[in-house]
Amino acid sequence: MGRIAVTDGMDDQAIMTLENAGHEVASNHYSIDELLDGVLAEFDAVVVRSATKLSADVIESSSSDGSKLGFIGRAGVGVDNIDISAATQNGIIVCNTPGASTRSVVEMTIGHFIASARNIARADRSLREGIWEKKALKGTEIAGKSLGLIGLGRIARGVADAAASLGMDVHAYDPYVQSSPDWINMHDDVDDVFRSCTHISVHCNLSDETRHLVNTTRIGMMPGVGNDGTECGNHIVSCARGGIVDESDAAMALENGQLRTLALDVFETEPLGDSPLLSMDGFHGSPHIAASTLEAQGRIGTEMVSLLMEYFETGRPSTSLN
Ligand code: MLT
Repeated sequence: MGRIAVTDGMDDQAIMTLENAGHEVASNHYSIDELLDGVLAEFDAVVVRSATKLSADVIESSSSDGSKLGFIGRAGVGVDNIDISAATQNGIIVCNTPGASTRSVVEMTIGHFIASARNIARADRSLREGIWEKKALKGTEIAGKSLGLIGLGRIARGVADAAASLGMDVHAYDPYVQSSPDWINMHDDVDDVFRSCTHISVHCNLSDETRHLVNTTRIGMMPGVGNDGTECGNHIVSCARGGIVDESDAAMALENGQLRTLALDVFETEPLGDSPLLSMDGFHGSPHIAASTLEAQGRIGTEMVSLLMEYFETGRPSTSLN
């Protein structure tokens, strides 16, 4: 039976299933100093979300002589907080749960677009201050507008379906996909997506290639007028990873009107501290909760339990990232 560290929380039912199977589960968030001191070396497996950063240094310290650590589970999709090549060099298997939160993130993305176009967060803020802004808060419909998807993986495809059913024309850029539905307008150049769309949704990984991909130059290319001729302004949503949207460029674009709204679930620094965005009417945000639903966390927990059980039974789950 194994010792499993769960450092950023996991569904209660999943923890119970592991304990009922005889494993010991320690739910504890460790500081960076504890991680660098090698606290994970005494566990067989660790399950993280995004808050625990398993850098090469942490992985090295967890892999000293006598270390038992052989499995890193990412309860979610993004693995930018795990140094996979350091894990591979130290013989540690890395697994994630790529499909379990798709529906939740799709719904959150569409929710942010509608909240943006109809000023829902801004209306709530002023209502609480006792201001009845009925005239000032005229919004626009998302129907009849163009949505540009940066990245066309599982979540983006779900957003594309939902947006098309709401009457949006869908464009996308993803140099890594081979095929896509013919009703999605694919572009070879990301700039063409910005030139074609009043609404942009970010769905790529954070990498050197995508850091600050959404910046002053590209926001400046957005048309501000929908296909239906409505002066709807430009709108950007990101529920992908902080750092893809250049937050200071986006704040400037909100200030000068090039961007009408920006909705972020993910930030360059999390938790978000003092940010100029917080004083801007056109901005609203959420604290990295796009995958935080009962349903998604339940599915993530179930998948993670299967991966862990397979690891303890066979030494290698049938799906892994290395
Ligand atoms: C993910 O990559 O799965 C999401 O960002 C959710 C999370 O980290 O909690």
